[in-house]
Amino acid sequence: MTLEKSCVFADTCKVAGQEEHCNFTCYPHAFMHGIEGGSGGLWGTSGVPKAYKSSRLSNLPIKEENPKAHAVLTKYIDNVLMFVMEKNAGLFLYSVPDADNPFGTGTGKTTSATAVLNHFLIERTRAYLRGEMEMNENPALFVKATELQNAFNAQFRGTRQMQEDASIKYYSLKKNIKKTELVVLDDIATRNSRISEAFEDELYEILDYRSSQETGATIFTSNVNMEELSKSLGDRIASRIAGMTVKVGFKGQDNRLDSLFK
Ligand SMILES: Nc1ncnc2c1ncn2[C@@H]1O[C@H](COP(=O)(O)OP(=O)(O)OP(=O)(O)O)[C@@H](O)[C@H]1O
Ligand SMILES: [Mg+2]
Repeated sequence: MTLEKSCVFADTCKVAGQEEHCNFTCYPHAFMHGIEGGSGGLWGTSGVPKAYKSSRLSNLPIKEENPKAHAVLTKYIDNVLMFVMEKNAGLFLYSVPDADNPFGTGTGKTTSATAVLNHFLIERTRAYLRGEMEMNENPALFVKATELQNAFNAQFRGTRQMQEDASIKYYSLKKNIKKTELVVLDDIATRNSRISEAFEDELYEILDYRSSQETGATIFTSNVNMEELSKSLGDRIASRIAGMTVKVGFKGQDNRLDSLFK
């Protein structure tokens, strides 16, 4: 099978020279979306929340308020396989608060991180289906930092059986985060709060593994800058994150409410 450049995620694709609407009968489409209503396939297992599944460079709304961030993301996405697979270069997308938006929320950080993930998934799948790269595991994963922290904490709560079940879940998540080529860790660190020593050790182990094994790249989003990150996660983790990412600040108004009324 020869893949057209537009195949995978396109609305239409060419099958034997004929333009067709992309659906589950198209192999690349089924590979990405599964065959039941689009919630399966690689797309489903990547964990990208529904609201961010259509995030792409072409609809990234940040150019006006954050032109520098937009330029960095354009460059990264244009060469996403090279940045992730060869350079193992991640991104730290953080808020730059101001008087009108003191917590720097709703500035487009998660939208940008998921746009990168979505483009990576497309390009990575194309490379695999063209026979240029192997694919043995799910190549991209979106995880909320609180989800990881809650999964860790759940191991110490409830009955013995509940704790055992929680441990199995946590170790499976931890293993996936360690080995997946592109990981988005969303909303890492909370202002004015310090993580527990036990969780700090876990997070350090994960990030140290990711930064030393050269398996891919990690994209972090956060409402705090590097200095505050140290206060929340400790110096060891902050310096690991600093060493594995390019820092990109996001300023401007909170667009979340506006977007609800569009
Ligand atoms: N500059 C912008 N212009 C218009 N809409 C935007 C802009 N930035 C973000 N949005 C919209 O605002 C909503 C929230 O964006 P997003 O979740 O990416 O923000 P965030 O920076 O991750 O926020 P938080 O810090 O709360 O996690 C989305 O619907 C997104 O499309
Ligand atoms: Mg966010």
